[in-house]
Amino acid sequence: MSPAEIPFFAGAREMAAHGDGYVAAIGAALVSGRALQGPQVAELEARLAGACGRAHAVTVGSGTDALFFALAAHGIGPGDEVLVPAFSFIATASCIVRAGARPVFVDVDDAGLLDLESAAAACGTRARALIAVQLYGQMLDPAALEAFARERELVLVEDAAQAFGAATGKRRAGSVGRVSCLSFDPTKTVSAPGSGGAVLCDDDALAERLRRLRWHGRDAAGAFAELGYNSQLPTAAAAVLLRKLELDAEWTRRRREVAAHYDAALDGKMAATGITVDQMFLVFTDVYILIPTLMVFLSLVLRPRVNRIVNIVVALVYAVSIIASCIGEGWVYYLLGSAVEVVLLVAIVRTAWTWPRTQVAPSLR
Ligand SMILES: Cc1ncc(COP(=O)(O)O)c(C=O)c1O
Repeated sequence: MSPAEIPFFAGAREMAAHGDGYVAAIGAALVSGRALQGPQVAELEARLAGACGRAHAVTVGSGTDALFFALAAHGIGPGDEVLVPAFSFIATASCIVRAGARPVFVDVDDAGLLDLESAAAACGTRARALIAVQLYGQMLDPAALEAFARERELVLVEDAAQAFGAATGKRRAGSVGRVSCLSFDPTKTVSAPGSGGAVLCDDDALAERLRRLRWHGRDAAGAFAELGYNSQLPTAAAAVLLRKLELDAEWTRRRREVAAHYDAALDGKMAATGITVDQMFLVFTDVYILIPTLMVFLSLVLRPRVNRIVNIVVALVYAVSIIASCIGEGWVYYLLGSAVEVVLLVAIVRTAWTWPRTQVAPSLR
């Protein structure tokens, strides 16, 4: 059986099923003559606020801009520090640099989520905000986050770019902290035909400020009251998003069904191995990148006999180390992992040592 090719995005399949609806929605938006800030934008904002349990949603050009505006609207800038998880998409940290503040990276737990103990240790006197990321749709404990931010007088920004629709207890993603950010990037579960994002909050004045920032600092009276930007979600994109919001419940149900299928098929095998995320990355990096590269390198520069022996030793030690990691013997894994690194180091030193000799063709020696 030849391996199936599974595309990352099944765009054609989605268009075949829903394309007519999207095109009709875009057509209606364009006919209205308001390519920006048309009625579909206001409708989408109301729907998003309702779905997340917030008073306001302000759509913007991307999730990246949403995060930046969340900081800028609080005057966070030069001299300030913002706590941010060390593991997320780059936009979670780059928005801080863009605001002129300094990101302070905080460790994450095995699930890749912000670790509050590490955040407490990293929180200095200059810290003004904490960006909490609901990574891969997983949710942090909202009450713990909000208490943490309250005790330290930090602005809590929720990066819910990957978590629209997620919930824990009665709390929904998009409702945590002072301000929440969504992304409608094509990689997200509810995606725009292009880029898009939204900032959600409960504070009327904050929502007003966010609306000013997204369009040149213009206030409700039409005056350009402050320095702003141009970051708007096109009306046509809002129209498609409205359509996708209607489909989202069924998509989520189906996604859960597929996930349950994988869970059942894997039957907790990953959990049983005791392999942590770190170890997985180590295994993938070593096995698929480092080892083959080194083998090719060695075969070029070592004498055939030495090369063969080194290859056999590395392969044997590695095979045992991978088997050990699969049966959950963490210490054996680390011990053998270290042994491999030593073997590699010796091989590299030896290669460097013999380099001039092996590079010169025998006839030229
Ligand atoms: C966690 C996280 N934050 C922020 C962003 C930025 O969103 P956008 O791509 O809409 O700018 C993304 C995804 O793209 C993300 O995954």
